[in-house]
Amino acid sequence: MTARTAILISGRGSNMSSLIAAAMEPDYPARIELVLSNRPDAAGLERARAAGIETAVVDHKAFDSREDFDAAMQAVLDEHKIELVCLAGFMRILTDGFIAHWSDRMINIHPSLLPSFKGLNTHKRVLDAGVRIAGCTVHVVRPEMDSGPIIGQAAVPVLPDDTEETLGARVLEAEHVLYPRALALYASGQGRVVSERIVFSGNTASTDSAVFSLPGD
Ligand code: GRF
Repeated sequence: MTARTAILISGRGSNMSSLIAAAMEPDYPARIELVLSNRPDAAGLERARAAGIETAVVDHKAFDSREDFDAAMQAVLDEHKIELVCLAGFMRILTDGFIAHWSDRMINIHPSLLPSFKGLNTHKRVLDAGVRIAGCTVHVVRPEMDSGPIIGQAAVPVLPDDTEETLGARVLEAEHVLYPRALALYASGQGRVVSERIVFSGNTASTDSAVFSLPGD
């Protein structure tokens, strides 16, 4: 069983590219059927097309309400018989109705160790707070922003001379390792939502190393 998966983007799509590359492996449990952007100029669209993936644009500016915009996205996802949605730098707030429709079938990557540093400008806030460990999280999407059952996290050190850019680049490298692994765990059913936590089954040794890995491990 491979899950028919769509990736929703708004920008450059580097996480999208890491998912597309992983899903090209023959035994990967998700197949990327569609990349959908709310911005016609998202650089990720071209990257997706170059990888041979179908793309679609639903421009949020063409809609009067979030409900209408989400309904238009839903129609495109239905048209492609999508079963699983990955948010990858998708910068629109989704309606509760859309999130409820995709409950347990939509996941997101956030560039911090949730539940710390929800929201935007995470790397600046990490540096301002003086924390020593930064990282990223893949979680199941719930109506409250950057909340929901955590599938996987990867930690990276904060170094003394870090700027937002250097820290952001180190976290992004970890994102590119984490997201494909987390999607595989979730799409395969090895990780399931039970009482708002992810419970893993199967080979726990490989699950553990997949969840708590650093880039370059
Ligand atoms: C990533 O840092 C991701 O964690 C956040 O938005 C950024 C998207 O980058 N949600 P990219 O478009 O995947 O390169």
